[in-house]
Amino acid sequence: MAKPARCAVTLVGMARPTSATIHTDALRHNLGAIRARAPESRVMAVVKADGYGHGLERVARALQGADAFGVAALSDAERIRAAGLSQPIVLLSGFDEVDDLPQLRRLNVETVVHHAAQLAMLEQSAGEPIRCWLKVDTGMHRLGFAPDAVRDAHARLSALAGVADEIVLMSHFASSDEFELPQTREQLQVFAHATSELPGLRSLANSAAVLGWPGAHGDWVRPGGALYGISVVAGQTGADFGLRPAMTLATRLLAVNRIGRGERIGYSATWETPEDMPVGVAAIGYGDGYPRHVPAGTPVLVNGHMAPVIGRVSMDLMTIDLRSQPDARPGDPVTLWGEGLPVEVIADAAATIGYEPVCSITRRVRFVED
Ligand SMILES: Cc1ncc(COP(=O)(O)O)c(C=O)c1O
Repeated sequence: MAKPARCAVTLVGMARPTSATIHTDALRHNLGAIRARAPESRVMAVVKADGYGHGLERVARALQGADAFGVAALSDAERIRAAGLSQPIVLLSGFDEVDDLPQLRRLNVETVVHHAAQLAMLEQSAGEPIRCWLKVDTGMHRLGFAPDAVRDAHARLSALAGVADEIVLMSHFASSDEFELPQTREQLQVFAHATSELPGLRSLANSAAVLGWPGAHGDWVRPGGALYGISVVAGQTGADFGLRPAMTLATRLLAVNRIGRGERIGYSATWETPEDMPVGVAAIGYGDGYPRHVPAGTPVLVNGHMAPVIGRVSMDLMTIDLRSQPDARPGDPVTLWGEGLPVEVIADAAATIGYEPVCSITRRVRFVED
């Protein structure tokens, strides 16, 4: 009889050495750091977009100490409940259609109400009371009732048997990461005026407001990025606020090649070798979610030491100037971001914020937890 093929050995050899390690202790540390900054507030852990790319169930399990979870889709709430977690969940973008309401009730999910169309749907639907978060548009001009429509919306909600008695009043900041700008203060004033004398808890603060606007903490803070150790404050990383990165993206060198002077590296020949030099090729590219458009000079860590990316990032590979590490060998570890190399640095090079790279990791990257 023929021997079975040695599949396992072949498969291990075929796997790319690219991984995203999620540090659940860092998630818990960051939750603690947020609580320390906002000691009077309850904390809603925002876990939308698959836990900012870190894995929804993994993040929700690690952050069971939060007072609630904030999600953007009912399917996320479904996943959190399927993971056996019973914490309150708030649907941050609110429900879209009347058929969502029985789902909210079945999953025991609270919802943001930001539009008159949702009031009309709630008025049509009877059942167990749903807890609602009434959203005021204080200047972001994305979701929310105009300030002069808030009292009427509150009255309509309060009159419904299908809505729980305690309505939370909320808004969202547009520029809370810019501590010098007046917009956050103006939004706070609009909110105070629109909601004065209305009963209920208040919630405004996203991560940047937790970090920089203590007067905006209110009864519930709603951090997302800070939980993952990421700052959106220009020029400052999560570490500057006592946060720890919750993700390390890493791979290995597949090759180290000696390339002569005056040769051009990679697609479109954008980078020319100034001298005979070692060039590392690492198993990561935009097909893994690493931003394609980072310029030459963007740092990676090879064996824990900084080395610059050169040439174009391609789908599966990137090239690295190894002149500072003449001893680097194929198989050596390469860190793209994480401890020692903040994702904010890479985001800055890619002209975006740290949230985008962590949300962009693709499915072929192996996720591991430590
Ligand atoms: C309504 C709402 N609250 C809180 C957050 C969390 O924001 P951040 O990740 O900046 O803390 C978001 C995310 O955009 C949001 O949409």
